[in-house]
Amino acid sequence: MDFIKQLHSGWAYLTILMGVIFVVLTLVYAISKKDTDNVIKKIGLITTIAFHVQLLVGLVYYIMRFTAMEGAGNIMKSDILRFTFLEHPMMMIAAVAFMTIANAKLKRSNIVPMTVVIFALVSMACLLSRIPWTIWLG
Ligand code: HEM
Repeated sequence: MDFIKQLHSGWAYLTILMGVIFVVLTLVYAISKKDTDNVIKKIGLITTIAFHVQLLVGLVYYIMRFTAMEGAGNIMKSDILRFTFLEHPMMMIAAVAFMTIANAKLKRSNIVPMTVVIFALVSMACLLSRIPWTIWLG
């Protein structure tokens, strides 16, 4: 359980870093109407892989935590449990879905469209809004 927890915690840095790089670069490309080149496509691919790995590790961690938990029936009654077992996973799944759509749109376009930036921004908003910051960093 400890290894999976460490992996989920550590990989989150890479996920956030790649997400920020993706948003900034696609914004620069979209504003300057630059052609979609190999650099931005590679960044998109690495970002999507980072998000999907985090999602898979999160799912494994969730199953381990959930099966080891007593009193699963109290999830909706406790703010912390509701956050950990419902809000965090749901919003992270949404974040991964939006980032995957952003990358799929990027791959299909010749010039990076603004919709890619918007999908990536929505993804990062979902992600950053439901990270357990105090538990993670504090
Ligand atoms: C894909 C983007 C995701 C990111 C960036 C992310 C990030 C994080 C971070 C930073 C933590 C705190 C780690 C720590 O306390 O050291 C955490 C905890 C956790 N995550 Fe995720 N996560 C993601 C997806 C998921 C998914 C999809 C699930 C489940 C299906 C999940 C389940 C959990 C659980 C159960 C915890 C424990 C929370 C606690 O101990 O209070 N995560 N996540």
